[in-house]
Amino acid sequence: MAEILGLGMSHYPLMARPTGQKSIAFRLVDRPDLPDTAKDPGNWPEAMRRELADDQGEAYQRAHREAFGAECRKIRETLDEFEPDAVLIWGDDQYENFKEDIVPAFCLLAYDDMDVYPYRPVVDPIGSSSSTFEHVSANAWGEPEDTRLNLQGNRDLAKAIARGLIAEKVDIAYAYQPLHFPSLSHAFLNTVLFLDWDRDRGWPYPIIPFQINCYGERVIVNKGFISPVGKINLPDAELDPPGPTPERCMEVGAAVVRVLSQRPERVALIASSSWSHAFLTPKHDFVYPDVENDRAMYDALGRGDFDFWRSITNEQVYDRGQQEMRNWWALMGAMEALGRATPSYHAFIESYSQNSNKCFVVYDAN
Ligand SMILES: [Fe+2]
Repeated sequence: MAEILGLGMSHYPLMARPTGQKSIAFRLVDRPDLPDTAKDPGNWPEAMRRELADDQGEAYQRAHREAFGAECRKIRETLDEFEPDAVLIWGDDQYENFKEDIVPAFCLLAYDDMDVYPYRPVVDPIGSSSSTFEHVSANAWGEPEDTRLNLQGNRDLAKAIARGLIAEKVDIAYAYQPLHFPSLSHAFLNTVLFLDWDRDRGWPYPIIPFQINCYGERVIVNKGFISPVGKINLPDAELDPPGPTPERCMEVGAAVVRVLSQRPERVALIASSSWSHAFLTPKHDFVYPDVENDRAMYDALGRGDFDFWRSITNEQVYDRGQQEMRNWWALMGAMEALGRATPSYHAFIESYSQNSNKCFVVYDAN
């Protein structure tokens, strides 16, 4: 029977950029369709203004990144102690492979080994994700643009999981190669980059990326990042259909555990994403995230309250900008199925000015 380790972390792309940058909030308000009241820092929460201080949040960004890196190191240490045969990562697709031609709710990537270039610009004839619209190769580690990583996949295990899920009545989509994005998409690639924070361990583990249509109503509308100008108050009919419900994500996570329980491999499951996102939170004019509701989710995680997590509706997800947390709902379902009520380690990095709150968690294998 498989041994399963449960982990959660963030893949916040700006943590790969050079340190000491001003807050993303000043970029988020740089759009003409926002009301002036939303652009005025005087109207932002006091805690956010404290983060921004008098340098537009540069010093805070440095401290945020330091705290972020310390958590990534902890997750990596736990992973190395466990020595997994494979690492399954739940991650969102931000208009990378889920585009106008197909948007599945879930998709398992049964890729072979691949060479990836994290700092090269990505070109796709159908249109690039707006999250890569301002491609820069400059990165926090000072690595050259042609840096190459060779990542192992595990096609056999990925196929076995797909077979098992179908037997579990989860009609999973799968892919043997990228549809559009000619690399590993950001949720998975950043996870790998961040788990070698000090660039001293490399990445020896085969990965099985498990995509979730986290962006739901905004997967095509937003093209992966900020809603196009002029579309801040889109009528419901113009939004895309929603992603899978939190409850369904938990069911799928639980089904993954049942399938893996029949296998001999040691597998680490990672939920990879930040929590509420500023650029997805309409009630805050897309300027800062829903910190209060993230705190409530974090409290529920700490006390092992899976029913609280299950009770969240798709409407609440949309209202709170918690779309990417669908990756975490899958992990919650998996841990509930394993009977691991409370995590052995958890941390919460709260932030108004760095787009999102970040949670890190470990559920020990035994
Ligand atoms: Fe993401």
